[in-house]
Amino acid sequence: MKKIGVLTGGGDCPGLNAVIRAVVKKSIKYGWEIIGIRNGWKGLIEGDVEPLTDYTVSGILPKGGTIIGTSRTNPFKREEDVQKLTENVRKFGIDGVAAIGGEDTLGVALKLHQIGVPVVGIPKTIDNDLSGTDYTFGFDTAVSIVTEAIDRLHTTAESHHRVIVVEVMGRHAGWIATMAGIAGGADEILIPEEPFEIEEVCSHLTARYDHGKKFSIVVIAEGAQPKKEDLSVAQTGEEGELGHVSGESTLITQTDEKDEFGHVKLGGIGHFLAREIKKRMGVDTRVTVLGHVQRGGSPTAYDRILATRFGVAAVELINENNYGKMVALQGNKIVPVELEEAVSNLKTVDMDLYEIAKIFFGR
Ligand code: F6P
Repeated sequence: MKKIGVLTGGGDCPGLNAVIRAVVKKSIKYGWEIIGIRNGWKGLIEGDVEPLTDYTVSGILPKGGTIIGTSRTNPFKREEDVQKLTENVRKFGIDGVAAIGGEDTLGVALKLHQIGVPVVGIPKTIDNDLSGTDYTFGFDTAVSIVTEAIDRLHTTAESHHRVIVVEVMGRHAGWIATMAGIAGGADEILIPEEPFEIEEVCSHLTARYDHGKKFSIVVIAEGAQPKKEDLSVAQTGEEGELGHVSGESTLITQTDEKDEFGHVKLGGIGHFLAREIKKRMGVDTRVTVLGHVQRGGSPTAYDRILATRFGVAAVELINENNYGKMVALQGNKIVPVELEEAVSNLKTVDMDLYEIAKIFFGR
């Protein structure tokens, strides 16, 4: 008989509840006790937990968000928090922690494993940028939402002869922009992996315009950056007003506010680019920032199934006392990988895929 704790950390993501349900139901089959740790690592620091039963998880499979809450708390920010956390693991008699999260939450999981906390990881992020796994759950849902938005924006852009810039999530990796851009037939896709030239973007859009297509859809990931030279040209432009330019990089944001893991709050590049396109091409532009719509609501069938398989596999790792691992999708199999492998490098967009997307830029 084991007692396990489950937590969800970082940004929420469609499919979190499906994982929680799978962890609980599979654990019940083993006859274990399960506690939900509220609000990510914060709950383990503060001892804020609740029992999870068959009854608690009933009906949550299609529900967005997370029934146990989440936060971006980093216990390693404060020495005393790590101590409180490890004491609580002992106090509650937790044999294994299933941590559902992205690079930050699983980075903490790895450090905790290294100091002896029994933990397994489950890969979550709509950004799909965790290594070791082909896909993270939540990504498919985000791509579906963005694709639908692009379809809808096409008809209004065409009617008004406008360039519509669609800003999507993707801090370090442009997976959502690339996949949804291909699926939605975007005319330009800009991603963090490849700094862009504003003039080149305008020349693609102009080629389309000259070819009789008097509207365009530009999809841009929030972490995409213009080339350095481009930024200084834009900065001297009449309209000025760039927003924050973060440190040494050309990351354009509306604020320099950072979270506990040192990540600056993104958003603003879409408006910057739309202003530049308008200025250089003299066309009417609009911006749609999809923001948290991409993370809210019910997961797709694909994400529900992937989340369920991950949850079950994580419980199996705990059953085998196989800690320090993350469950991962490789091909069609769920396999364990070292947490270290998952968090050491981010999985950026496959450039062969991006080259396919580029075939459709221009005319
Ligand atoms: O989960 C990752 C992510 O989706 C990033 O793409 C984005 O920058 C971030 O979450 C924003 O999350 P929040 O507004 O919750 O801080």
